Amino acid sequence: MPATVVLGAQWGDEGKAKIVDYLAAGADVVVRFQGGANAGHTVEVGGETWIFHLLPVGVLNDHAVCVIGNGVVLDPESLFSELDELAGRGIPVPPERLRVSGCAHVVLPYHKALDRASEESLGSGALGTTARGIGPAYRDKVARSHALRVMDLLDADLRDRLRSAVRAANDMLTSIYGATPLDVEEVVRQTQGFSERLRPYVDDTSVYLNKALDDGRRVLFEGAQGTLLDIDHGTYPYVTSSNTTAGGACTGTGVGPTRIGEIIGVTKAYMTRVGNGPFPTELLDDEGERIRELGQEYGATTGRARRCGWFDATIARMAGRVNGLTGLALTRLDILDPVERLKLCTAYRHGDLLLEEFPADPRILDKCEPVYEEVDGWCAPTTGARSFADLPAGARAYVRRIEELSGTPVSLISVGPDRDATIRL
Ligand code: IMP
Repeated sequence: MPATVVLGAQWGDEGKAKIVDYLAAGADVVVRFQGGANAGHTVEVGGETWIFHLLPVGVLNDHAVCVIGNGVVLDPESLFSELDELAGRGIPVPPERLRVSGCAHVVLPYHKALDRASEESLGSGALGTTARGIGPAYRDKVARSHALRVMDLLDADLRDRLRSAVRAANDMLTSIYGATPLDVEEVVRQTQGFSERLRPYVDDTSVYLNKALDDGRRVLFEGAQGTLLDIDHGTYPYVTSSNTTAGGACTGTGVGPTRIGEIIGVTKAYMTRVGNGPFPTELLDDEGERIRELGQEYGATTGRARRCGWFDATIARMAGRVNGLTGLALTRLDILDPVERLKLCTAYRHGDLLLEEFPADPRILDKCEPVYEEVDGWCAPTTGARSFADLPAGARAYVRRIEELSGTPVSLISVGPDRDATIRL
């Protein structure tokens, strides 16, 4: 049974969690492959709201096994606080239901301190990170000198390795940023406390996942952030530090590309972005404020107000290209219900040129003006629709136009936060 990947086709916050939760009902294994506790995946089930940062959303489906792959940077503090919260709400997650890659790198308190110090030092040029230590943890992974992986937390020489890692981080904190160093022994004590608790969850998750696929089990890859935050293909340097695109599902789990059948790009019916960086269709006027309020566009991890703008088809085409999308899941269509006139960005104007492809060079992107096509809104409720035919004609036309402009068929439409407010095409 080929695997399915669900990933963000914009700047994150596309509503992936709702789509993953919906598809997880038919999955046996749900796996996170990149990012860390910077994600804020919100799901509403039966009137209850759940927010996940590190655990796959699939954990809500009690027949699914969840996996945290090697490409994730795992913050043990965040993981255990999520597990404790779930247990407190009646969903205990025993080790049989959660397998954690021994090769995943670990986020420790000094990564978060370095993230904050780096952002402060950048002043107005700050990236606007979530301060969850993501960049410094991936930097340690790539630098290879002081990084610690989950398997190292279980090792007898942890104490010594950890001491030298905290000392190296303290050197950076004090000499580069003039920040307060961390108490080495306190970090050692806290981290050792996590080690034993983590042990029963640790596994070779590449072996586990490939065996699951061999056995015909249905595996769902759950992306975090979005295509435009990809370290290679996104709006660099205003990106996160991992590969959020489809290739990351393979490198972040040890599952080969030939085992993947379906790649679904989740995209809002408009656009949002948190943090800094370019956003060509951003609305800086009352219309943007209106969409923010209609959609309650505030970050699940940091509470920051999200920047809002019109749907951008150059970005949808780019997401289709770099991910090899087989389908789009169009979310939050209902948020646009009251909006009388809508705009779709079809291309960019750059001087005399009409650009149909999203430019990789930020200097070009900076000078691009969106080319808009205006369409009438539908001004009718869509939340009760359960089939495409139930949607108002204007909403159907809007969806079809998005398909045409993006070059990828829409396979799912979400018209509300509940699981059943979903239309399959
Ligand atoms: P970092 O991942 O915390 O290093 O943040 C880098 C950029 O990615 C910032 O602009 C963040 O706002 C953005 N970002 C990180 N995670 C998410 C997410 O889950 N949703 C939306 N934006 C995110």
